[in-house]
Amino acid sequence: RILILDFGSQVTQLIARRLRESGVYCEVWPFNAAPDDRIRAFAPKGIILSGGPASATDEGSPRAPQAIFEMGLPILGICYGQQVMAHQLGGLVEGGHLREFGRAHIDVTGDCAITQGVWAPGAREQVWMSHGDRITRLPEGFRVVAASEGAPFAVIANDERRYYGTMFHPEVVHTPHGAALLKNFSHIVCGCSGDWTMGAFRAEMIAKIRAQVGTGRVVCGLSGGVDSSVAAVLLHEAIGDQLTCIYVDHGLMRANESEQVVSTFRDRFNIKLVHRDASDLFLGQLSGVTDPEIKRKTIGRLFIEVFEEEQQKIGGADFLAQGTLYPDVIESVSATGGPSVTIKSHHNVGGLPEGMRMKLVEPLRDLFKDEVRVLGRELGIPETIVGRHPFPGPGLAIRIPGEVTKEKADILRHADTIYLEEIRNAGLYDAIWQAFAVLLPVRTVGVMGDGRTYDSACALRAVTSTDGMTADVYPFSMEFLTRVAARIVNEVRGINRVTYDITSKPPGTIEWE
Ligand code: XMP
Repeated sequence: RILILDFGSQVTQLIARRLRESGVYCEVWPFNAAPDDRIRAFAPKGIILSGGPASATDEGSPRAPQAIFEMGLPILGICYGQQVMAHQLGGLVEGGHLREFGRAHIDVTGDCAITQGVWAPGAREQVWMSHGDRITRLPEGFRVVAASEGAPFAVIANDERRYYGTMFHPEVVHTPHGAALLKNFSHIVCGCSGDWTMGAFRAEMIAKIRAQVGTGRVVCGLSGGVDSSVAAVLLHEAIGDQLTCIYVDHGLMRANESEQVVSTFRDRFNIKLVHRDASDLFLGQLSGVTDPEIKRKTIGRLFIEVFEEEQQKIGGADFLAQGTLYPDVIESVSATGGPSVTIKSHHNVGGLPEGMRMKLVEPLRDLFKDEVRVLGRELGIPETIVGRHPFPGPGLAIRIPGEVTKEKADILRHADTIYLEEIRNAGLYDAIWQAFAVLLPVRTVGVMGDGRTYDSACALRAVTSTDGMTADVYPFSMEFLTRVAARIVNEVRGINRVTYDITSKPPGTIEWE
């Protein structure tokens, strides 16, 4: 196992992810929550110091626990982690040089344990840099393995002590061989065997949940999406009937989704499940609402109200379980404290409703979406749920620009079902991040048989993405699109025109509202 000490970089969890991908167990601890005895008890085979936003040249900037340099363990410092290591071992770090952000090239001048078999001396390699400061004098025992224009010490090594440092981020995909460098560190330098699997994660998480929850009672909001489904099944495996799931049905789900959620979790997994059909309440309150943000906020507020009501009915609970993933953590952090602007109010990352004094259980907090899918399969959750496209908390409401009514939701559900059926039949479902139909508040004239129609237009959307933060349009063939359009216009009463949305994100967003 490897210990990652986090200095606050946006991409620290990617280090963890790369290690897991190479079959190595690791934990990420904040740099200032790592007392020496805790580190010793954890008994890591090596330590990685992450990047971070601070400047090692500043008085009072974060430091690694000095004791790690006396434990005889291999250490890899990345970006800020490299600088802080150099600084603490007697080297010199300075600011005010050429800053490098983004793609950069380095010249490999030597060889060391982490570059062996990956980079040959003399090669010029692409890496992803993000730094303002740099090392200007190496600590004793270190030598240079690679250099860039802005960073003469892009890779440094102290072979005897097994300390390595990179100025760039090996954990991001923009450093093409970064994963191999990290694997060399964990496998070759630290001697990890690489046999850790998601099955082991499952067992560890179950033990952790039991330790956290004890005999307490837990409620979990189930949405039928991948994240909450995996969280619920994992929790149920850990604590059985101490868990109650609450499924708030806002009536804006896709066709048959509610039935599927209820039968899967109640019948197949034997999970205590409250199914509250609140569609009348939601649709009633949405009546007359056309502004996207008010729509989202109305749904978010009602969701919490209904959830609270249901959890009162079952006598309350000590813990609230959520299927929060790592990208949610990052996004909601920047949404509350960071400089970024709120583009849309995501209703399920707002966290604990005020007044609901429960502690949080978030077993998936360290994982990325595709890792959650692997875990879900491991837990025996059906592919129809595990492989499902993401679906937004506010449901179809944000795919019906303008006022939402039951009639419009029914029309949209029908069109969406046809679209997804065709995508599945064409074998394209898994190649697409998300695909859905949008019912436009626009009526257009058409001709059907001998008659004139005056009905709604609908837009189809399909994108590829790795995390939902950016997205590209899926390049369907014209033949596929025209087939779907013909079916929708012929089969769905109320729609007489179909368009395909060809906007990428940015500048568009994936959803229309
Ligand atoms: P946008 O539309 O912002 O969406 O490009 C990015 C991803 O987030 C999903 N999304 C939501 N998910 N609650 C959610 O759980 C929400 O309120 C919400 N709004 C958007 C969207 O479907 C896409 O996958």
